[in-house]
Amino acid sequence: MEVIIQPTAEEASALAARIFGVLVRSKPAAVLGLATGSTPLGLYAELIRLHREEGLDFSKVTTFNLDEYLGLGPEHPASYHHFMWENLFRHINIRPENTNLPDGLARDVATSCAVYEERIRAAGGIDLQVVGIGSDGHIGFNEPGSSLASRTRIKTLTERTRADNAPFFGPAEEVPYHVITMGIGTILEAREVLLLGFGPRKAEALAAAIEGPVSPMVPASALHFHPRTRALLDEAAAVRLQRGNYYRHVFANKPVWQRV
Ligand code: F6R
Repeated sequence: MEVIIQPTAEEASALAARIFGVLVRSKPAAVLGLATGSTPLGLYAELIRLHREEGLDFSKVTTFNLDEYLGLGPEHPASYHHFMWENLFRHINIRPENTNLPDGLARDVATSCAVYEERIRAAGGIDLQVVGIGSDGHIGFNEPGSSLASRTRIKTLTERTRADNAPFFGPAEEVPYHVITMGIGTILEAREVLLLGFGPRKAEALAAAIEGPVSPMVPASALHFHPRTRALLDEAAAVRLQRGNYYRHVFANKPVWQRV
């Protein structure tokens, strides 16, 4: 796993957007794996800027999101459908029919999950998947204990994750207990993975994922099984890493041909 530490979340997000931009420019019909939550907001703002000011073209791009709350339709303000339209899709020239999220209103959840996996396969697989990390080490909504080979399926959120996500809901609203999420096995099939982690709240989970043993108790640690994962952190999220100086040294001395 390549670990890149940037001074701020803004700089890390700009670098993440450059990585997306390089891919979309070299492969206009790229398949992007997207995430929601507070972490990718800076990345999406920068992608919108690249689209508006530098002509980054999303007209042939296809997207698949990691997860969706079960029971929330696309119109619900806390649904991930709504999040993606508000924070990215409506600001760029992506075709609505090329955007994919798990169906939060699925009646037959198992079939709906199998169909989602099939759609990813039919699109040729995901070229670049961005993931955030939960304070308990989850990626997607694969909570601790998730099978490292898991596929898209229903999961029950931990109380900690429900509390972490409560700010996205109204004061009188209950955070759903269930979600549909890509599995860890699904995420590991993406050709490239970008793990983003910002702020002191993520420092412990990131240290466990990056420098601890691979374990289902820290789902993000499974990314060590992926040959092309980059972890992009700000300094605040890197404070618990033991080898921070080495990661900074590696990044500062990259061969020219490896630089983004
Ligand atoms: C969101 C997702 C989650 C979040 C994680 C961090 O699609 O899959 O794993 O990335 O819960 O959330 P934030 O970024 O809000 O701290």
